[in-house]
Amino acid sequence: MKVGVPTEIKPDEYRVALTPAGARELAEAGHEVLIQAGAGVGSSLDDDSYVAQGARVLPDADAVFAESDMVLKVKEPQPSEVELLRPGQVLFTYLHLAADRELTLGLCNSGAVCVAYETVEDADGKLPLLAPMSEIAGKLATQAGAFMLEKPFGGRGILLGGVPGVAAATVMIIGGGVVGMNAAFIAIGMEADVFVFDKSIDRLRGLDVALGGRASTVYSSTLSVEEMLPRADLVIGAVLVHGARAPYVIKRDQLKLMKKHAVLVDVSIDQGGCFETSRPTTHTDPVYEVDGVTHYCVTNMPGAVPVTSTFALTNATLPYVLALADGGVAGAIEKDPGLRSGVNVANGHVTHPAVAEGVDMPHTPVDEALAATAPV
Ligand SMILES: NC(=O)c1ccc[n+]([C@@H]2O[C@H](COP(=O)([O-])OP(=O)(O)OC[C@H]3O[C@@H](n4cnc5c(N)ncnc54)[C@H](O)[C@@H]3O)[C@@H](O)[C@H]2O)c1
Repeated sequence: MKVGVPTEIKPDEYRVALTPAGARELAEAGHEVLIQAGAGVGSSLDDDSYVAQGARVLPDADAVFAESDMVLKVKEPQPSEVELLRPGQVLFTYLHLAADRELTLGLCNSGAVCVAYETVEDADGKLPLLAPMSEIAGKLATQAGAFMLEKPFGGRGILLGGVPGVAAATVMIIGGGVVGMNAAFIAIGMEADVFVFDKSIDRLRGLDVALGGRASTVYSSTLSVEEMLPRADLVIGAVLVHGARAPYVIKRDQLKLMKKHAVLVDVSIDQGGCFETSRPTTHTDPVYEVDGVTHYCVTNMPGAVPVTSTFALTNATLPYVLALADGGVAGAIEKDPGLRSGVNVANGHVTHPAVAEGVDMPHTPVDEALAATAPV
């Protein structure tokens, strides 16, 4: 199979979907790797390092999309990239379609088979291709929140850890999954008072052990959230319902319960956002204010630390890339049922139930869609 890797074009995105190590594994398995010139530069990987492992460098995205059987990316395709997709071509990347009807329609019209990193599941029903980026986003969420609490950035002017004789700040984390747990690790390390909210008792039980009792766990309900909001200096939103649009855990009229210049970090913004007042922002312009509360809603947080996140991402994706290249989508999902959940759109049909519900389009089972003829 010809596997193509274009340069990411989302604003402030410096990750790349394949490292030279991945190019080597694909080449050794008999596949051809086509990399866009400069695709790895943002992650400190130059073209020569790919060529040394058997890849061929192409001048632009048009050439990469035109020659590839499978396109590997990091972030969801931008409109100019959707136009380059063709029927039957495989796209493997983060998609986050449940909150993006326009992109879903664009991918359906392309006729491509689109496999989303974030809905691939492992044998335990966990999300192995979301987890590494969630680990990074969780750690960054606390860092970013601490920074935005500083007065010159519009924050309350409180230090997360306090000092002897002055109380620490209160960090409230809603959603105690991979993002939430990693946000808690850093907040505890910075000596804040940490409260993690979740609706899963099992998850809260696991967190109690993982965090060694150094954070309080709270069953999440409207009342428990409202009781904590007046105390919180930093609130990190990290909820997820697999494949679906994020539920709102803080509504606009609840912002008045919060301290002036407290900070909200909405990590779930890539799934539409879990605060009613959230809207996507970028690393260049990360925050805005609503009712006196700072909102940080960057959709590609790990893009800020590409030297860490490119390797964390590709360590996890490479086995799936090899499986897809070896067996094609039909062959690979036959062997790995968890990869089947990654197929979001195929041959013009939406094949993931939560995505179909999120964008209000009909759902077609994966096998039926793969057997259908792609629109021309
Ligand atoms: N902005 C970014 O750059 C970025 C990067 C990585 C991940 N994310 C996003 O972060 C979010 C969390 O990812 P994750 O890997 O931690 O997911 P996860 O599945 O590991 O954890 C989600 C947690 O949310 C809990 N939850 C669900 N609904 C809830 C509710 N109403 N109230 C309280 N808890 C609730 C679940 O029980 C679960 O423990 C996802 O939307 C993911 O796409 C964003």
